[in-house]
Amino acid sequence: MRGFITAPAGHAGLRLADDLPEPLPAPHEAVVEVRAYAVNHDELNLIARRPDGWRPGQDVAGVVVQAAADGSGPAPGTRVVCYLDWEGWAERIAVPTHRLATLADRVPFEQAATLPIAGLTALRALRVGGAVLGRQVLVTGATGGVGQFAVQLAVAAGAHVTAQVSSPEREAEARALGARQVVTSLEDDTLGPYHLVLDGIGGPQTAQAVRRIAPGGHLAWYGNIGGPAELRLGDFYAQGWNAHVVGFISPVPDETKGEDLAILADLVADGRLTPRVGLTLDWEKTPEALDALARREVRGKAVLTVGGER
Ligand SMILES: NC(=O)c1ccc[n+]([C@@H]2O[C@H](COP(=O)([O-])OP(=O)(O)OC[C@H]3O[C@@H](n4cnc5c(N)ncnc54)[C@H](OP(=O)(O)O)[C@@H]3O)[C@@H](O)[C@H]2O)c1
Repeated sequence: MRGFITAPAGHAGLRLADDLPEPLPAPHEAVVEVRAYAVNHDELNLIARRPDGWRPGQDVAGVVVQAAADGSGPAPGTRVVCYLDWEGWAERIAVPTHRLATLADRVPFEQAATLPIAGLTALRALRVGGAVLGRQVLVTGATGGVGQFAVQLAVAAGAHVTAQVSSPEREAEARALGARQVVTSLEDDTLGPYHLVLDGIGGPQTAQAVRRIAPGGHLAWYGNIGGPAELRLGDFYAQGWNAHVVGFISPVPDETKGEDLAILADLVADGRLTPRVGLTLDWEKTPEALDALARREVRGKAVLTVGGER
């Protein structure tokens, strides 16, 4: 079977191997034929850190070819989206049935593949603030992989969303996602106060975001792509008295990943959530997709397609 493995001398630290073993499913795992996968910013770091021969790949959409032996999960032929820890950039994978959700025929594999890491992070981080109906929510890095979902899901939940983007060129993209207000900086004292902030950027901006939180509000801090942040108690005194900064980790809890994927897949099927796919390539070009991601050239998600009927 073919699939990508880490190889430091290879392009983007990868090699497409053709001698991988077929997946050996545990009783609670289905075997899925991969049709599309998405790449995530974090996977750039994982590829650099893992030993030679490690198999990356977390976000996968495809078709069940072998049902789980314990009777859980869907039948062969079912279209699914899957959340893996690794080994997803291959022709076939074994997936625990609590980590997959079925897909309506109208949801393309390319869109579904964007949902696991980025979509779940946005969905679960949004829950940190409880009900957001009619409330102000700030999303930093709003046109990034997670940010695009965070804006759309917050809007779908009834929030008034302020999107922070990296440059004025991103403003139209953020408005198209449903943001009411778009800013490139959080220095403006009149911003907020925000019931909830979803921050994947970090750096000096996080302290500015804390200064815009409403009293008792929350900041779900899920990424620091912009560098380390330094917070002072005084940042909370601006207005966010007794505000909460949550060091947010999206992969827990594990047991409800499939449930959460189903929520996202249904929103896509209903046209209430539209994954933005900025780059689609044949999977043999996975290293090129990773290069584009590292160079910040991808608008939305980068997706790789793996043979077969779409
Ligand atoms: N805690 C968790 O469970 C979890 C889960 C998923 C992701 N993450 C982390 O969340 C962060 C975002 O992930 P992602 O997949 O959304 O990444 P992404 O698709 O690459 O998007 C990153 C966003 O951040 C902006 N950005 C990139 N570098 C920046 C910089 N130096 N300063 C300011 N803005 C910058 C980008 O703006 P441009 O549009 O200009 O490029 C883009 O909007 C990463 O650090 C990732 O590791 C954490």
